[in-house]
Amino acid sequence: MRIRRATDDDFAAIWAIFRAVVAGADTYAFSPDTSRDDAFAYWFGPGVLSFVAEKDGEIAGMYKLIPNQRDLGAHVANASFMVGPGFRGQGIGEALGRHCLAEARKRSFKAMQFNFVVSANTGAVALWKKLGFEIVGVLPEAFRHRALGDIDAYVMYRFLDGAARAR
Ligand SMILES: CC(C)(COP(=O)(O)OP(=O)(O)OC[C@H]1O[C@@H](n2cnc3c(N)ncnc32)[C@H](O)[C@@H]1OP(=O)(O)O)[C@@H](O)C(=O)NCCC(=O)NCCS
Repeated sequence: MRIRRATDDDFAAIWAIFRAVVAGADTYAFSPDTSRDDAFAYWFGPGVLSFVAEKDGEIAGMYKLIPNQRDLGAHVANASFMVGPGFRGQGIGEALGRHCLAEARKRSFKAMQFNFVVSANTGAVALWKKLGFEIVGVLPEAFRHRALGDIDAYVMYRFLDGAARAR
């Protein structure tokens, strides 16, 4: 498996994974009927750095890295991850997460923030904790889960230098 910068040529595969993920209406705020153009802008819009994991010549998953805020909040990174349903549980999400943290450090971000981790997304919450993120905030009933109704979403955060910081 290798992780490399995504190109426009990867979009067909990215779109297939994106559609499969948002179809569940259980992990991202995107509606299942999000358009191809909106998805393209999400992965390839201005200032977006996207990477794909390629396994045996197939795109298995992807992530994007952006500043979490403009200007005075731009030293904190934000990222989004999706692994194709057929590729889960093989360490790809973790490899993407570690790659993303290294990439963010390389680009001198100070911290990384995930703004909207669905509380019922136990796999993702466990993965981000494993990679050093903490839940720093709970957004009560902020996610409209298709099966569970309105449930909490988490803000998760970590510094990138590995040092423990007092808050
Ligand atoms: C979350 C996601 C990226 C994980 O990718 P993955 O390739 O399946 O995960 P990995 O195989 O790398 O698992 C790494 C770690 O994540 C955690 N994890 C992943 N899936 C899990 C699950 N179903 N249940 C519990 N823990 C899980 C575990 O800590 C695991 O480490 P371990 O194997 O030592 O227990 C993937 O499930 C996905 O794309 N989901 C849909 C989109 C999404 O939720 N994105 C994240 C939004 S915040």
